[in-house]
Amino acid sequence: MEIIRSVDEMVAISRKIKAEGKTIGFVPTMGFLHQGHISLIKNARKENEIVAVSVFVNPTQFGPNEDLENYPRNEEKDLELCAEAGCDYIFIPKPVDMYREGYNTYVEVFGITEGLCGASRPGHFRGVCTVVFKLFNIIKPTKAYFGQKDAQQLAVIKKMVRELNADIEIIGCPIIREADGLALSSRNTYLTKDEREQALVLSKSLKLAKELIDSGMIEVSEIKEEMLRLISTAKDSEVDYIEFVDNYDLKPLNRIDRSNQVLIALAVKIGKTRLIDNMVV
Ligand code: PAF
Repeated sequence: MEIIRSVDEMVAISRKIKAEGKTIGFVPTMGFLHQGHISLIKNARKENEIVAVSVFVNPTQFGPNEDLENYPRNEEKDLELCAEAGCDYIFIPKPVDMYREGYNTYVEVFGITEGLCGASRPGHFRGVCTVVFKLFNIIKPTKAYFGQKDAQQLAVIKKMVRELNADIEIIGCPIIREADGLALSSRNTYLTKDEREQALVLSKSLKLAKELIDSGMIEVSEIKEEMLRLISTAKDSEVDYIEFVDNYDLKPLNRIDRSNQVLIALAVKIGKTRLIDNMVV
């Protein structure tokens, strides 16, 4: 595995790989890798000749009061995990190289970025789309892999690629969970032992929603009420949102209807840590 830190060098390498007619599978990450990321890398490994992973804590997707400075980092472990998972190139650019002095160009997707996480994290998806588009131009992937855990991000990236005619296939990969249901996230590291236990209310409330739907409940407000009741049993929890939306365009739904795939998404603060989870029914 080669470690590349310069944008120009990465551009030259991917240009050469493309000229040789080889496929590139790309996994963009912010590092502090866990088995969720590894599953993306393994999928990329199966489907492409060359696999590239980026590790970049992207400053433009963090709000002023968010955790940019404290975002967990462990480069040594990331390198080890990427090598083990069969990555060929790991790209670790510096912020000053990605955003040179005077940088002022952004990619913004409208219509599906205002709700869900976009409502409480204004500017977040603009930062995500900008960095992902830049990384696509640098790495020139054939296919790029994103986790379903960030369901809104996945839908936004798909829309960006579709509407900007980027010649890249976006592959969504399933959420990876701990044995007790907690969705893997780099931010789980912020949780104390007690909060880790309380955080199970996210996956439990999704499971409950699925059971209620399976038993015939169709009114979203009623299902939400039951989910809220369950989440309130976690003493340090504060619900940011619980939304039932169409899985394609993220338009809010009031009733469960067999004609569309419903994304049930939620964000809950456990103590100071904001966690997200979702399920498609
Ligand atoms: O999902 C993430 O880790 C980030 O949002 C991404 C896609 C790497 C962009 O910085």
